[in-house]
Amino acid sequence: MSRPAATLVLRNAVVATCDRGPSDAGLLPGAAVAVDGRRIAWVGRDRDLEAEVNAAGAKVIDARGGLVTPGLVDSHTHLVFAGERAGEFALRCAGRTYLQVALSGGGIAVTTRETRAAPDEQLLAAAAARARRLIAQGVTTLEVKSGYGLDAPEELRLLRIVHQLGAALGGDATILPTLLFHAVPPEHVGDRAGFVREACASLIPQVARERLAQFCDVFVEDGAFAPDEARRLLQAAKDRGLVPRVHAEQLTAGGGARLAAELGCSSADHLEELDDAGIAALAAARVVAGLLPLSTLFLGSERYAPARRLLEAGVPVSLATNMNPGSAMSENVGLTLSLACLKLRLTPAEALVAFTAGGARALRQPDLGRVARGADADLVLWGCGSPEHLAWHMAVNHALVVVKHGRVVHEAAPAAMVDCR
Ligand code: NIG
Repeated sequence: MSRPAATLVLRNAVVATCDRGPSDAGLLPGAAVAVDGRRIAWVGRDRDLEAEVNAAGAKVIDARGGLVTPGLVDSHTHLVFAGERAGEFALRCAGRTYLQVALSGGGIAVTTRETRAAPDEQLLAAAAARARRLIAQGVTTLEVKSGYGLDAPEELRLLRIVHQLGAALGGDATILPTLLFHAVPPEHVGDRAGFVREACASLIPQVARERLAQFCDVFVEDGAFAPDEARRLLQAAKDRGLVPRVHAEQLTAGGGARLAAELGCSSADHLEELDDAGIAALAAARVVAGLLPLSTLFLGSERYAPARRLLEAGVPVSLATNMNPGSAMSENVGLTLSLACLKLRLTPAEALVAFTAGGARALRQPDLGRVARGADADLVLWGCGSPEHLAWHMAVNHALVVVKHGRVVHEAAPAAMVDCR
């Protein structure tokens, strides 16, 4: 039988395949990965490489015992926005809650005003800089939400900017756009039902027709959307071929998780206030629970999502940064992994699988988030040899080499390397 050819080989690695269920990183010590073009051609023992793969002419990366994982899948981000919310952060440090700030005219409304006023180029440049910071930490797939335009013309503008972001990154990451209903636009608060009706009849069909988004997400919360409103929006989105998702049970137990189960959403994200009935509903419907511990930390709360109970109930979980100006102003991948362990009580292996295979599942991308023959060649070489080390040495960037579709898209500068191999 002829050996598969390789264009890129990573040798002498501890490979985490992340394809063996939620609690097993699938570690293969003394392993190698061969890539042919955009896909993984072979994974196996390093000593079998020559016999199994034709690597003549391939670029070879010696991992020197370092960990090689799938590229991270950041399945929940709000990268397109303008302005800052540092004043609101200070108010929250002084004791105000996120909901108090939001209900008194701050929060999302502030970012919406600043985002609407910003030109496309400014929004694109800021989003690209945020995306680059994530790529440099091993993220190779990013879900990016609209949601700071609120009304139809502005949401359409933001989704177009998300598409431009994909082009601006030149293929260095996969960008998956989401239409997010984040709040009722200020111009429509007097006629919420009319806004929802119009969005179902016009905005959602246009987004689907022009293929501006793959997902539709609704923030189900006091001050945002009620479950009935969200049901109408998500059903309309589903009818047009968009995959529904929900921001659920973040600040109050608003019923978002049960709605996600009822509608067959790909994920229900946040879940800090989730109860046992909600867990059972997600488990029965196989909805991915999106864990976003950076935002729980950033909001100064100790009520983290019940991740262990979710795992015990068999709910698939994902882990993401939720990068946004209001509840998680951070692109720190390492901190996200460590918080998942320290606060959500995931093992380091579970955190890694949630940030790779879990994210891919939330985004319905079966070829991403795992190291296996035929999967997309999205890979990260880390400057350490285990998932435990990644979570232990907290909030630094361990990524040394980031590969997207078989191409090296980032290499850590020597001065910035955290290399403990
Ligand atoms: O995912 N919860 C809703 N949306 C964001 C926060 C948005 C904001 O405050 O600007 C989140 O946490």
